Amino acid sequence: MSSQGEKPHVPPPSLWPIGFAVGIACILIGLVVSWPVAAVGAAIAIAFGFLWIRDVTGSVREPVQAVEPETRRVADTGGAPKALEGREAMPPMSEEEIAAYPRSTFLSAATLGLGGVIGGIITVPVLGFAVLPSFTNQKDQSVELGPLENFAEGQFVIATYLEDFEIGEVTRRTVFVRNNGLLEDQPSFTILFSRCVHLGCPVQPNGLVYDEQKKTVGEKRVDLTPSLVTGFGCPCHGGQYDTEGNRTAGPPVRALDRAEFSIRDGKLWLGQFYSVGNVESTGARARIKKYDHATPGVHVDGPEAWLYPVEVPG
Ligand code: FES
Repeated sequence: MSSQGEKPHVPPPSLWPIGFAVGIACILIGLVVSWPVAAVGAAIAIAFGFLWIRDVTGSVREPVQAVEPETRRVADTGGAPKALEGREAMPPMSEEEIAAYPRSTFLSAATLGLGGVIGGIITVPVLGFAVLPSFTNQKDQSVELGPLENFAEGQFVIATYLEDFEIGEVTRRTVFVRNNGLLEDQPSFTILFSRCVHLGCPVQPNGLVYDEQKKTVGEKRVDLTPSLVTGFGCPCHGGQYDTEGNRTAGPPVRALDRAEFSIRDGKLWLGQFYSVGNVESTGARARIKKYDHATPGVHVDGPEAWLYPVEVPG
């Protein structure tokens, strides 16, 4: 029981843990939404974490005040029965040691340690899922589409290939490739991805497809089929797109996704996919604002984009 006037060994109420939790939440949100938010979260977590630890360990760092030991009168009963003869298992603690490590300090440290362990258990897997894919998905995903001569100027060629031979047909991809001619002496290509940006069905070219002229090129055995395309249509819900991939009818929410390209040793290579909101002008002069490759049904620009702040990793 505490003696009268003795202060209980309880840490004062503190707001630092709340600030620390807010910082951790900002980091996790920032890892998904944007790096600056994560950086602000880290700064908040570090600042509040430091203040919290300082608070909790304050009693250890303060000079210990001498406390009169509690005394009791021992009834003269001839003393307690003697324990078994022998030495103590541990040497008894001195008065200073007992005063330097009071029970409240032990409880505070235990709470802090337990909180750290629980925080680690929650945070580490989230960090792993959010950050690791950025480092593990670094393999070169470019696909060879063969010599530039395969692509007549102004004409779409349908290119289809398996992204992963081992997995098979479910990884089949189709892109529509158009040679736009030269722009400032550099070859220009438009490459549209066939995945409908409403719900993901494969869009079909509207127009003639010259199946008899199909040829296979490259290590990935890409099939190239020339066509005379006037637009693209989706068989699922009637979405329609023009030859720049802009939506002209139906439920799609943005223009068709596109792919980057490069030219190496006179051959065209397909690069990373990306999303666009709307394309202005046409061909080599098209003005495109690139966005990270988004899932179907997601607005990437305009006020509606605020309704989709967190993109599901694909
Ligand atoms: S999936 Fe293409 S219009 Fe619905």
